[in-house]
Formats: sequence, C-alpha cells, structure tokens
Amino acid sequence: MPIPEPEKAATEKAAPEIVRTLYELDMAIDHLRNKGQRIGLVPTMGALHDGHLSLVHASRRQCDSTIVSIFVNPTQFAPGEDLTRYPRPIESDLRLLADAHVDVVFIPAANVIYPDGCTTAVDPPRVAAALEGESRPAHFRGVATVVLKLFNLTRADVAFFGQKDYQQSLVIRHMVRDLNVPIDIVVCPIVRDDDGLALSSRNIFLGSTDRKAALSLSRTLGMAESMIRQGENDARIVMAEMTQALIEGGVTELDYAVVADADTLQWLDEVRLPVVLLIAARVGTTRLIDNVVLN
Ligand code: PAF
Repeated sequence: MPIPEPEKAATEKAAPEIVRTLYELDMAIDHLRNKGQRIGLVPTMGALHDGHLSLVHASRRQCDSTIVSIFVNPTQFAPGEDLTRYPRPIESDLRLLADAHVDVVFIPAANVIYPDGCTTAVDPPRVAAALEGESRPAHFRGVATVVLKLFNLTRADVAFFGQKDYQQSLVIRHMVRDLNVPIDIVVCPIVRDDDGLALSSRNIFLGSTDRKAALSLSRTLGMAESMIRQGENDARIVMAEMTQALIEGGVTELDYAVVADADTLQWLDEVRLPVVLLIAARVGTTRLIDNVVLN
C-alpha cells in the first residue's frame, strides 16, 4: 500500500548527501547541528520498501533533517543465516531515498563500523532472551551494538523503527532507557501489502506457493485477535489455535506463535492487556516474522 508523503515533500530539495566514512558523516552532522536542526535517524539494512519509507516520512514530519543508514550488519547474522544472500539493491535504494527527500544517506563499509581491534559489544537487555533470542542467540547483541554505534555516530535526536520487528524495538527501547542514551525512540506501525503480508526485504525470496503460505501469518494473527476480542482469555487456547492455523496454512517450520506481555514478552497463561501476539515461521527457506499488539 503506498504511503502518503508528508506535505514537506512537495517542496524542491536537493538529492541526499551520500557519506561513507566517519569523517564525511561527522562533517554532514556538524553542518546540520550548526543550523540547530533536530535530526532524525532511520537505521536500515537497505532493500528498502514502503515500510522503511513510512519511517522516513515519520522522521521528515517530526524532524528538520533525516539521515538514513544502509548497513547489512554482519554481527546480527549467525553463521548459516542469510547474510550473503541478503538483498543489496543500492541503486534503487538511493533513488527511493532521493524521492523521499532524505538529507543524508550513510553507507559505511563493514570495516568502518567494525575496524580491526573493535571488540566491545552491548550485552542486550533481558527482553532479548526469549523468542528471537532463543531462535537466534547472538542476534540482539549484534543489533544492540550496531544501533548504539549508529546513535553515537549520527548524534540523532530521534530514531525511527518499525513495529514489525517488535522484539527489536523493545530491545532498543530498554537499551536506551537502561544506558541513558540521549535519544527518543519512535516505533511506527507495520505496513502491509493489500493481501495482508507484512512488508519485509525478505519477501522477494517468496515464490507464489510460498507467498500463499506466508499469508497464513497475518491471517492467523487476525483470527487470534478476533478470539481475544470476543472474550477468549485463555492464552494457551489462543496459542494452540494459532499453531494449528499456521500448520494448516502451509508454513514449513514454526519457531513460535505466542501471546505475550507487550512490555516484558513473558508468555501468558491468561490474556491480560496490553498483549502482543507474535509469530516467527519459515516458509520455504525464508524466515518471516509478524505481530499484532492488543491494547
Ligand atoms: O531492523 C533492521 O533493519 C536492523 O536490525 C537494524 C535496526 C538496521 C540494525 O542493523
């Protein structure tokens, strides 16, 4: 679904400044800071879609200037995960960011972020341990480390993340709170295709049969949401129905389908709002996640 651009986009603006080194980034940030600008950061791994662009639009509405980082962060991929096949369509990404009137695009090489001798990492908060943390044990250590580095390097006032990576957004919120990082975190709603599939850079790997099975994630979340809204408060029953629906829907492998506390991600026996319903499943060779928050 196309995201409406904020009115600011109507005004003529130059192409974004593309920076690759820390020196170039520092110069660009100094320039914005000297003008007293409020800086928004949208951290990405590229392969941009309307979900990312919704974050850019939110940043443009709330900030004076917007920086987008494109960095496929190796430390958040385990050996055997899809680091090497992760899509990297840099030319089309840059066109999208120019159309979206981004001010600065930071595209560092891996040795700019992790130079030789860089051995410090962030121990992620407790909320990282369950769910994705169980399926991908080193993932949030890598995410928290790179995100903190991006916050420090860009000196942004606000950073924008998508709700699709719900646990990631909690990890970042908790890290910022626990380590007193001076930045505001904004989490923007999930953007879906017309058929309900949550947008993801990995959706390009889905063939037509896989895509059909992938739709069972959003359909299952819708069904579970209706059950709860109609009064079902035994979370174990809801989770059993979710598991059944996903298996019948054709997912290849189910990592989890849970009803959890929206802030701590503790699994619940009894539904006590606010809760989050979360799914991670493999469809073919592609791992997908989706969620819905019920307040
Ligand atoms: O959500 C992502 O794309 C990545 O995890 C992030 C936040 C850019 C860190 O590499």
